[in-house]
Amino acid sequence: MSALNDRVAIVTGAGRGIGRATALRLARDGAAVVVNDIDGDPAAETVELITAAGGRASAMIANTVELEQAHALVRHAADKFGKVDILINNAGTTRDKMFHGVTDELFDFVMDANLRTAYHTTLAAMPYMREVAKAEIAQTGQPKYNRKIVFTSSVAALMGNPGQFNYTAAKGGLIAVTKTLARELGPFGINVNAVAPGFIETRLTQAKAEGDTYGIPEQLRQQSLSLIALGRLGEPEDIAKVHAFLASSDSDYVSGVTIPVTGGQIGGM
Ligand SMILES: NC(=O)c1ccc[n+]([C@@H]2O[C@H](COP(=O)([O-])OP(=O)(O)OC[C@H]3O[C@@H](n4cnc5c(N)ncnc54)[C@H](O)[C@@H]3O)[C@@H](O)[C@H]2O)c1
Repeated sequence: MSALNDRVAIVTGAGRGIGRATALRLARDGAAVVVNDIDGDPAAETVELITAAGGRASAMIANTVELEQAHALVRHAADKFGKVDILINNAGTTRDKMFHGVTDELFDFVMDANLRTAYHTTLAAMPYMREVAKAEIAQTGQPKYNRKIVFTSSVAALMGNPGQFNYTAAKGGLIAVTKTLARELGPFGINVNAVAPGFIETRLTQAKAEGDTYGIPEQLRQQSLSLIALGRLGEPEDIAKVHAFLASSDSDYVSGVTIPVTGGQIGGM
């Protein structure tokens, strides 16, 4: 039996990068996966990849910066697959600027995309995770199985990163709420953890040309590589593997932690 047979997962920001790799992995492990993104075509492509491999998936375009859209996302999972067992809060993005150039607009955008999306989606999932577990406990004294919530922080929040005041504020916040929610939701058999990816090859970290919205200057990419003990940049699948562990019963006694997945990046291990 696959590790996640009969489980239903939501992965936010699953149209690309780490989210897509995670959706594919959880589906391969047996979960039915709701693929959320703000961009329709990439999300549809992730669903196609999953179904072509024999898995179960459904796309839901929603921007969970809006609470109503978070509710719609979670309802979609319940309508399609009957329940919600696993929530991977992966959606996020950057708008880098040295601190003296940060504006309210840049600050709010990045806090919304990284922290508010995770707050709203997790809140919207409570009736399907906390309330369902509570009813099970009332009936039999314990939840049927552990449910799982994962947040996505960053090595940048662990070690600081010039140009990422807004991003590290949001990602640091996610480390803190992981601990708070682990304590609040533990009695309901809900594990709450976070991953802190290091340098993973995606749109966010591609070599940046002048005027590009996403990416990192090539010189900084090379500098980052020199700090990684394992001597290579990460692939989205490196994070997906840890998500798969945190989503499975193998992590039933792990809660409230942020796992750095950095290849041993100096300063962020
Ligand atoms: N790539 C890295 O090195 C790295 C390092 C640390 C943390 N992270 C974090 O990992 C997560 C995934 O990043 P990635 O590198 O795969 O980036 P990516 O840009 O390749 O993919 C992110 C996806 O999230 C979607 N998205 C953005 N805002 C959204 C919203 N409001 N609602 C729904 N979807 C939204 C985007 O459309 C995109 O498809 C992010 O939270 C990012 O901050 C990445």
